Amino acid sequence: MGQKKLIKFAAIKEYENVLEYPQAMPGKWEAFFLALTQLKNNTKQGSPSIHVDELSIQEAKHPLVLELACGRGEYAVGLGRLFPHQHFIGLDIKGNRIWKGASIAKRDGLSNVAFVRTQIDQVTSYFAKNEVDEIWITFPDPQLRFSKAKKRLTHPKFLRLYQSFLKAKGIVHLKTDSPNLYLFTQTVIELYGLNLITATDNLYGTDFRQSEKWEDRFAIKTYYEGLNIASSNRIHYLSFTLDKELPIELDDVLKEKIADFEITETHDSLARNGKQAME
Ligand SMILES: C[S@@+](CC[C@H](N)C(=O)[O-])C[C@H]1O[C@@H](n2cnc3c(N)ncnc32)[C@H](O)[C@@H]1O
Repeated sequence: MGQKKLIKFAAIKEYENVLEYPQAMPGKWEAFFLALTQLKNNTKQGSPSIHVDELSIQEAKHPLVLELACGRGEYAVGLGRLFPHQHFIGLDIKGNRIWKGASIAKRDGLSNVAFVRTQIDQVTSYFAKNEVDEIWITFPDPQLRFSKAKKRLTHPKFLRLYQSFLKAKGIVHLKTDSPNLYLFTQTVIELYGLNLITATDNLYGTDFRQSEKWEDRFAIKTYYEGLNIASSNRIHYLSFTLDKELPIELDDVLKEKIADFEITETHDSLARNGKQAME
């Protein structure tokens, strides 16, 4: 591992706004953010860190929003600025990327923004039933190969995980430059009868921007968004709720439906270049 990465990995271990594979957090995020705010207000007294094991469970008073596959956490930080009375957590496995967002949140005193370094596959270990209000999935790897479809973060396999902690009316937002991931997610929504709220294959197009559906939070830009890896030159956006059961039996039907999707993007190879550029 490069020297710069090692320095960032070491730094986030000392950051009170980053937790790595935290234990016993379900139901305690309200208390965690309260402690983070107190720490910010008491910096002169120099409280060194938050002891997660000492947090008491508190009734949630602030909406809790997750950014999955957050990378540098532009959405967690950007939403944290726009909505100071909500709490935001970015999740990613890469500590050097999380370091960026966590450093900005610390520098700017955003005590409503935190990060968890973990595998998204383990996300159910960190949140209690109904603890989460919204989920943003921002420019995830589209996993274009048919054999990798189950790794797509909007595959029912993942949606079932999210259901274990997302409120019934909680919204999932997907922002992607990949027409294939957009089409795949639309197929999932349709097949499982989920409630589609908004879908556009041109988020920044004049029609959508001038429509009543436009919201300021859509304009937050992420690092990968800037790379235009899918070369689609269009940002696709979908939002939907997960307030229905997702029958396992339908997974085979989904597999058949998506087998026909044509692979038109070169995301995988370009993603590797993008990754190199970031490291
Ligand atoms: C294409 S990048 C997008 C990053 C960021 N959202 C952006 O738009 O700039 C995908 C991110 O997902 C993370 N990731 C992929 N699979 C993951 C997993 N299973 N668990 C945690 N993070 C994962 C990667 O580390 C990477 O930072």
